[in-house]
Amino acid sequence: MKFAIPRGRLMECSINLLNKAGINTNINDERKLVFYSDKDIIMFPKPMDIPAYVEHNADIGICGSDVLLENKNYVFSPLKLNFGKCRLSIISNKKYKIRDLYDLKIATRHPEITYNYFRKLGINVNIIKLNGSLELAPLTGIADAIVDIIETGETLRKNNLIEIKKIMDISAVLIVNRISMKTKYNEINNFIDNIKGVLYEY
Ligand code: PRP
Repeated sequence: MKFAIPRGRLMECSINLLNKAGINTNINDERKLVFYSDKDIIMFPKPMDIPAYVEHNADIGICGSDVLLENKNYVFSPLKLNFGKCRLSIISNKKYKIRDLYDLKIATRHPEITYNYFRKLGINVNIIKLNGSLELAPLTGIADAIVDIIETGETLRKNNLIEIKKIMDISAVLIVNRISMKTKYNEINNFIDNIKGVLYEY
């Protein structure tokens, strides 16, 4: 089978999970983008691109639940995993109340989730799409607040930022190509059962 595993913070846990489920990942060079074993192919896209790879090529992928929601790809998501736990929050260097953000600038790499969240509250905000180091945006003044991930809270503390409100909890999820779900039904279901067995062992 073909697996899409994200580079970055979910990579190690994802590889451990595959190994425990009997998939040989055999990774010996971190800069290589694709690994081939006897039976499987494992590719390593950027986290935000995992749903696109699973929609268009891989059979199975692992990504954050936020990434799945943000990208709206045509994939099946059968299983929540027990790692990658963090939250998506509104953050600033000023003690804003949510309503104070009306008409202000919000920087994020999650524009879709941010837009929907504020729209439901009837608060108009101007969204600026950034791709990383979000904390720099309020500090430099290019945005009034950010919507970003908090895991340990260390980045916030180091940059004197405040969590204004949590938008959602996040965890890693397993995603499956919708066509593979039909054409490789037994293989994929066996794999999901193996993963479930491994998750309960943790
Ligand atoms: C994420 C997020 C925060 C940090 C939060 O960034 O954007 O910067 O992690 O984690 P913490 O609460 O444990 O400090 P990431 O490390 O993925 O890098 P990037 O922003 O440079 O893409």
